[in-house]
Order: sequence, then C-alpha cells, then structure tokens
Amino acid sequence: MKNTALITGASSGIGKELARIHAAKGRDLILVARRKELLEDLKEELISKSNVAVQVIQKDLSVVGSSQELYDEVTQNGWQVDYLFNNAGFGGKGAFLDRDLEKDVEMVRLNVMALLKLTHLFGKDMKARGKGKILQTASTAGFLPGPFQNTYFATKAFVVSHTQGLAHELKGTGVSITALCPGPVATEFAQVAGFGGSKMFDGAASAYKTALKAYSAMEKGKVICISEIQFALLIRVLMPLLPKSWTAAIIAKMQQS
Ligand SMILES: NC(=O)c1ccc[n+]([C@@H]2O[C@H](COP(=O)([O-])OP(=O)(O)OC[C@H]3O[C@@H](n4cnc5c(N)ncnc54)[C@H](OP(=O)(O)O)[C@@H]3O)[C@@H](O)[C@H]2O)c1
Repeated sequence: MKNTALITGASSGIGKELARIHAAKGRDLILVARRKELLEDLKEELISKSNVAVQVIQKDLSVVGSSQELYDEVTQNGWQVDYLFNNAGFGGKGAFLDRDLEKDVEMVRLNVMALLKLTHLFGKDMKARGKGKILQTASTAGFLPGPFQNTYFATKAFVVSHTQGLAHELKGTGVSITALCPGPVATEFAQVAGFGGSKMFDGAASAYKTALKAYSAMEKGKVICISEIQFALLIRVLMPLLPKSWTAAIIAKMQQS
C-alpha cells in the first residue's frame, strides 16, 4: 500500500467521490462504512479503473470502541495511513426536546467522537513520520446556530473549532488538517436526516464537485474550505453583521421548508 487514504463514509455521497478522486491519482485506499456490499462494489470499480490497492473494512463507527478497533486492524496489517478522511456523519431533523435522545447521542458518537479518536490515533503516527494530511468533513452548519437540527449543527461547530485549533498546533510538523464546509449537497444525507423533499436541497451542489474542491484544499493545506462561493459570502460577510437571534430565525425557517 502506498499514498494510502483511509476514508470513513466511503459507501456513498462525498466519501465515495473522494475515493474516486484519490484512486484516479494512482493512490491506494482503505474504505470504511457499514454497508460492506457498497464498499466491495466501489473497490471493484476503483481497481478496474485505476489499478490501485483497495482494502475494505466494515465498521459502525458510532459504536464505542470501534475507532480503536479500526486503528488496530489497520496497523496490525501493516498499512500506513498517509491521508485520513474523517467523512462519515449524519444529521437529523426536529426540535431537540422532541427528538429521540439516543439518536442524537449516536450522532455525537459518530460526528464528533469517532472523528476525534481517529484524528488522535492516526494524527500521532503522521506527526512521528513528519508527513500526513487530514480532511475533516464539517459543514457550513458549523458556523451557525441550528434550530430544528440543533445537535447536528453543534457537532459540526465542534469539528470546525477543533480543526482550526489543531491546524495551529500542527504548524511545522509536516501534517496538515483541513475542514470541508459545504452547504447542501445532493447525497443520501437529506433522506437519512429526514429532509426528503425539502426545498433546502433544491439546487444542492454535486458530491463530485464538492469532493474535488475539498481534495484540492487539502492538498494545498488550507484550514477551512467553504466549497461554494455563495455560502462563503453568507458565512464570512453577511452572517457576522446580523444579530445571532436573526440568524437562528433564518435557519429555523430553512429547516422547516
Ligand atoms: N449532503 C449534505 O448536504 C452535507 C452538507 C454538509 C456536510 N455534510 C457532511 O458530509 C459527510 C458525508 O455525508 P454525505 O452528504 O456524503 O451523506 P451520505 O451519502 O449519507 O454519506 C454518509 C456516509 O457516512 C457513512 N456512515 C453513516 N453512519 C455511519 C456509521 N455509524 N459508521 C460508519 N459509517 C457511517 C455512510 O455509510 P453506511 O451507511 O454504509 O455506514 C455513508 O457512507 C457527513 O459528515 C455530512 O455531515 C453533508
């Protein structure tokens, strides 16, 4: 295995496109998600198109201890992770107090805890080697209050903040970290989060274009990548001018559209 990327959430959406882009550069892969058959199909496609080495690991990363198991399996096989793509995640619509708390706890375990643990484990090895790249799939949600998808927005705020701080700590180590912050993207995300048919996803970006921008930002070592210009303007220019209560009201309306 060489120039190997470990991609969580590689069975669909942004993760699957990141895998295709990485493979097209002749670089090897470890694909991780729960749906093994989808990972096996992707493995076959990548090997036939790009002649790269691909490993598949089926893992539910919301289970306590699963990130350590994943790390142990990778290292025991002698595979070196040069690129870590912490991409697996899900959202969930609804008022916080009306939602099943267990589902939100599972969301925090996947979107925050698995990402934190994998970054720590593989990041340490990268730092010791003086080389490595980490891409965290966050969201524009990470910059905003998120009524009616509150826990999801908060998990992404964690990812944005943690990435920004860690990027500073990693200066001069040879390891870079990038947070991808897309707006709505056309993937399975909307269906899983309970937004099927929502106007919020009209005109959503393509998973391929989003992954392409993320990959390029990661290669350049950029810390934050807001993948669409209109969201960059919204987050960086418009939202800071508005009172937080107005922003929350706008987001609440969008979640219910
Ligand atoms: N789509 C959007 O509008 C949007 C916008 C901003 C940010 N994002 C972020 O982008 C990332 C990728 O999402 P996507 O849009 O590509 O959606 P997606 O098509 O639903 O992909 C989610 C991926 O995460 C994996 N996953 C979910 N639960 C998992 C678990 N417990 N353990 C391991 N893997 C798990 C899924 O695979 P299995 O089901 O096979 O496990 C799938 O491969 C997420 O972090 C999401 O929050 C999405």
